[in-house]
Amino acid sequence: MKQKIIIGNWKNYLGHKESVSLAHSLSELVTKDRTRVMVSPNHLYLNEVNQILSTTNIEVISQNLTSAESKSDTGGITLKNLKEININRSLVAHSETRIREKNPQSILLEIIPIGFPFVLCFEEIKQIPFNTLNDDFEIILAYEPIWAIGTGETASIGHINEIHSDVKSKLSKLGLNIPILYGGSVNPSNCKEILASDNVDGVLVGGASTKYDLFKEIVNSI
Ligand code: PGA
Repeated sequence: MKQKIIIGNWKNYLGHKESVSLAHSLSELVTKDRTRVMVSPNHLYLNEVNQILSTTNIEVISQNLTSAESKSDTGGITLKNLKEININRSLVAHSETRIREKNPQSILLEIIPIGFPFVLCFEEIKQIPFNTLNDDFEIILAYEPIWAIGTGETASIGHINEIHSDVKSKLSKLGLNIPILYGGSVNPSNCKEILASDNVDGVLVGGASTKYDLFKEIVNSI
């Protein structure tokens, strides 16, 4: 099986103590060569969690960013802020971010020219800005049907394959090879089937990633 990417999106499920404690547990997690693990804590705990995991091969990434370096971006998270604390990747346009922000995808216009790695979430293929994507740095896409997020209802493998292979063929016409993850109620019972698909390059896990045992099971399921 080719390498799979597993991202734990902690959203706002965990407070400070719980985030630190989960990070310490994760520092004991032994990952295999064919898995790449990333976790995304609340912004306030990014630095601390990143320090705890700095000696592991788990990458800590941001849940969002709002500008490259705007000094007037009150309440925002800039790429400059992230780089200062050695965070080198961010989720972009997560469906929960979309509820709060009008056009979270607009950050792509700033970060693609700079080559800042990101994980772009989408619910519909038309939301993917194919013509602005490139292979010069690592871009990851994540298909997250909104009805499957946090609901316990996972998309069927047939549906996931259909969407992923459609996106993959559009990317390949552009000469791009960009991994596509699936997200939406991934848990230890359904991850094996999802991850076994060649069309699926990994999973973006919300709720189940906030419990060490569940996340470990998902990571070890490959
Ligand atoms: P969920 O969240 O696994 O809790 O459905 C996925 C996500 O929002 O990234």
